[in-house]
Amino acid sequence: MMFNLILFGPPGSGKGTQSEKIITKYGLRHLSTGDMLRAEISEQSRLGMEAKKFMDKGQLVPDEVVIGMIGNVLNNNKNAKGFLFDGFPRTAAQANALDELLNENNQSIAVMLALQVSEAELVKRLLKRGETSGRSDDNNEQVILARIKEYHNKTAAVADYYQKHDKVVMVKGEGSVEDIFNALCLEIDKKKEIF
Ligand code: AP5
Repeated sequence: MMFNLILFGPPGSGKGTQSEKIITKYGLRHLSTGDMLRAEISEQSRLGMEAKKFMDKGQLVPDEVVIGMIGNVLNNNKNAKGFLFDGFPRTAAQANALDELLNENNQSIAVMLALQVSEAELVKRLLKRGETSGRSDDNNEQVILARIKEYHNKTAAVADYYQKHDKVVMVKGEGSVEDIFNALCLEIDKKKEIF
């Protein structure tokens, strides 16, 4: 049985930072739709060019684009120990699609870890990264605020979907990277015991 977990939270909450540490410790396969889309952009693929129009405005990329990408990765990694989903699912339609894809292989989500960070801290972190990252959606406060708005309008409800199955654990996402990592590991270890 795979151990699949979702690392959830608004833009800038630390999903990417913590994912790197979690996959190293637990040997999971990292699946970040944001990274996958940025790779498509740097290859200048048709999918990438289409996605860029949305990403530059801080809007979500259409569901069918993202769901198609995920399906391929899941089907090509059936022997993985488990997946860490980072930045996916982000809409109710994506959550339904993920459940269907996992069900087809008798798999499921073990836990959703939801990072809690104040909006002021999110904006501060992303603007700071924007000074050096070259990410076009980080260097403009209006775009950062649009990303946070998309999160509230379309993504936050995804946590309710998993909460119905009692799978959501909130974790404080402010403080040192190491302290947050330890708090996440504690929750993962609890779930791994019973999974
Ligand atoms: P995506 O790439 O997923 O980005 P995001 O969710 O907007 O947020 P980030 O990746 O910027 O933040 P994060 O939570 O990973 O934090 P990080 O660790 O990087 O999405 C980008 C775009 O792609 C979307 O807007 C959308 O258009 C599209 N997209 C992606 N997935 C999609 C999907 N499923 N459906 C539709 N569209 C999709 O940290 C942020 C910064 O904070 C870093 O500089 C980091 O060093 C710093 N930091 C981290 N932890 C701490 C800490 N504890 N203290 C201080 N600083 C910290």
